[in-house]
Amino acid sequence: MDLNISRRFLLGGAAGSAVAGLAGCATNSSAVAEDVGAFPATTTTVENPYLLGPPEGVALLSRNENPYGPAQSAKDMIAYAADKGAYYTAQGATEKLKAMIAERHGVTPDHIALSTGSGEILSALALHYGPKGPIVAPRLFWDTTALYAKNLGMAEIARVPLSAEMEIDLPAMEAAVSDTTGAVQLCNPNNPTGLSTPGDVIRPSVRRMAAKAPVIVDEAYIELADDEAATTCIPLVKEGLDVIVTRTFSKIYGMAGIRMGYLIAKPEIAQAIQPIVMSWTPSTSIAAAIGCYNDMEFINMSKGKIIEAKQMITTTLDTLGMDYLPSQTNFIYFKSGKEANALQKALAEQKISVRGQYMDYNEWTRVSMGMIADVDRFVKALPGAVASI
Ligand SMILES: Cc1ncc(COP(=O)(O)O)c(C=O)c1O
Repeated sequence: MDLNISRRFLLGGAAGSAVAGLAGCATNSSAVAEDVGAFPATTTTVENPYLLGPPEGVALLSRNENPYGPAQSAKDMIAYAADKGAYYTAQGATEKLKAMIAERHGVTPDHIALSTGSGEILSALALHYGPKGPIVAPRLFWDTTALYAKNLGMAEIARVPLSAEMEIDLPAMEAAVSDTTGAVQLCNPNNPTGLSTPGDVIRPSVRRMAAKAPVIVDEAYIELADDEAATTCIPLVKEGLDVIVTRTFSKIYGMAGIRMGYLIAKPEIAQAIQPIVMSWTPSTSIAAAIGCYNDMEFINMSKGKIIEAKQMITTTLDTLGMDYLPSQTNFIYFKSGKEANALQKALAEQKISVRGQYMDYNEWTRVSMGMIADVDRFVKALPGAVASI
């Protein structure tokens, strides 16, 4: 660590600026929502005396992390990998992780490609398929990687409005897909809505679309779905279709800062994408993933905390008479009836960080499940924050 930097952070008087910085991720309303995307980059940083993690006293409920992670099983392996950090990652480590993932999902390891977080492999997919034709996607989804390719001039995004219930409108998406489509991309469950589309609804639709263009199904939150096996599109990969499922260690595994993700697709696709991911995933990340991939005790503990937090929030929203979408993720999208950016600011004054406005959904706020104590602060602060606007 650069000592000057650390001293500057330590002496910087972070508390005041942390609050000021919390409201810094609002959408620029003058820009076209589609161009800015649903997840614009944060322009203001939160100064943090500890450099990493939330500043002291801040309830960080804006980024869909699992604050109970990483698991001890991951941390033990990170320490082991750090000790061997002089060496490039051994092939045996990547092979072991691929084998573990393949075994869980009943495919062979050549169906797996690894990346430094799933964002990287989604970016690689957008760069690979974008030049072939537009990426057909729901209007509101985690669009960061499709926009990455778009901003490089390598993709166009054809956005399909959500249904009146804010679900992914699969019939409309099917109608938008043709032989000139570069790829289809959707998240299941979706972000920021938190809604999940059941497997018996999504799979037939994805099957039909995959006959015309490759379909990318981003399953970043699927371990939190009510029934993961009944929701995932991995069975379509096993049928040999042009379906690519992406997953991450950033969410339920609590490794957002460690960075590890992967795709599952037929071998031709996995082998085409693996060489074009841009980074060499750190050995610490691979080791951590090996350590915790089958750590069901940690997964179940995390799920329990997330369910508990969701119940606390939905109870409060019910009491306040606010609408919310039934979430199968670690966040809840609710309609406060107030300007989302104003609510974000009001909560930031109490050092509670939630997301600001997405696109033109100006009365909707996304709150992530954090530590139970932080969620408790949120539910206690919400009525007053709403009343103050
Ligand atoms: C739906 C979805 N997919 C993918 C990602 C990327 O996550 P990561 O790159 O940390 O795996 C995110 C991050 O928030 C997300 O919400």
